[in-house]
Amino acid sequence: MKPVEIKKGIYWVGAVDWDIRDFHGYSTNKGSTYNSYLVIDDKVTLFDTVKSGFQGEMLHRIHQIIDPKKIDYLVVNHLEMDHSGSLPQVLGEIQPEKVFTSPLGQKAMQAHFHYQDWPVNVVKTGDVLSLGSRSVHFLETRMVHWPDSMFSYIPQEKLLISNDGFGLHWATSQRFHDQLDQAELMSHAAKYYANILLLYSPLIQKLLATVGEMKLDIDTIAPDHGPVWRDPGKIIKAYDCWSRQEAWSKAVVVFDTMWHSTEKMAKAVADALIDEGICVKLMNLATCHRSDVMTEALDAKALVFGSPTLNNGMLPRMADMLTYMRGLKPAGKIAAAFGSYGWSGEAVKHINEYLADMKLEVIDPGIRHQYVPDHAMLHKCRELGLKVAQAVKDSGVPVCACQL
Ligand code: FEO
Repeated sequence: MKPVEIKKGIYWVGAVDWDIRDFHGYSTNKGSTYNSYLVIDDKVTLFDTVKSGFQGEMLHRIHQIIDPKKIDYLVVNHLEMDHSGSLPQVLGEIQPEKVFTSPLGQKAMQAHFHYQDWPVNVVKTGDVLSLGSRSVHFLETRMVHWPDSMFSYIPQEKLLISNDGFGLHWATSQRFHDQLDQAELMSHAAKYYANILLLYSPLIQKLLATVGEMKLDIDTIAPDHGPVWRDPGKIIKAYDCWSRQEAWSKAVVVFDTMWHSTEKMAKAVADALIDEGICVKLMNLATCHRSDVMTEALDAKALVFGSPTLNNGMLPRMADMLTYMRGLKPAGKIAAAFGSYGWSGEAVKHINEYLADMKLEVIDPGIRHQYVPDHAMLHKCRELGLKVAQAVKDSGVPVCACQL
């Protein structure tokens, strides 16, 4: 694949990872991209690099435009290894005059690479770097999603190079968002938000406000994963919805099961919700990945969890799910729990502890049933579903999802 000119004299020169299937616990079932951008100006500048092992692909693309040794500046917007892992090799190859990174980027760079003589220059919010006909305005975006994270804005091009912000994991041959299936595009963007950025939603709200106050004129957002957003209104609106954790009339019933008893209970809960007109996602952890559950949870108003008891606790996949979800801090949701047991039955109690930890609104003490549920118990599960449905309706959430 050739380099792709995203603006006159500005090229995507990154790499496509068709094979990656796990990104620290997030299922990247359609691969990813590691984007870097080359700006040809008086000072030839490379923005970001790629994961270790992909530097050959990136350098090959750069070679098709210019000798990599002619690169003057390297801007490192973020130190996570999917962008910086190839730094030692890339710096050895291009030998830039200067490397720019944020104050916390410099610390992270030192802590990762223990470098001696890299020509590192620290830039902070408000600093401006002239490239010749263009300038780069730096904006630190601390904890969105690492302490070192930074945006680079080129006003002459109305271009925001946004690092992980507005990114998504999807290996594609197309480089622009408007060349892709829009429904699939937004589902990958939602998955990325739910699994990488949800925890930082309050900071993202502030960042969107700051960008608004700065009145940055932006017609293109170039993230470091996924496609370049030409006309980025759609993704900015989505980030506004997601960072406010806007929910609608939707419930996720997530469960694991040992001998199908908890599964029967889950189906009774889900059926009642469906009968009340709530959109339901019934997700068995034996077949649904934790990161897909998080994606469905992003805009759901209710989360209902079911697990049988194993060795005085919940099943391991449910513990995994709840630990992962607790870290991402979903907010403003209604929750409940249920599960079958043999002789001790602590799973529901342990699930409720997680729900309390997450500060979700637990609307029922939870339902437990010894061994196989009978009709009376399934009726009780149905009543739990009706109770959750009523709480969703009483919350006043819209009946339709945020239109993106
Ligand atoms: Fe894509 Fe935080 O790295």
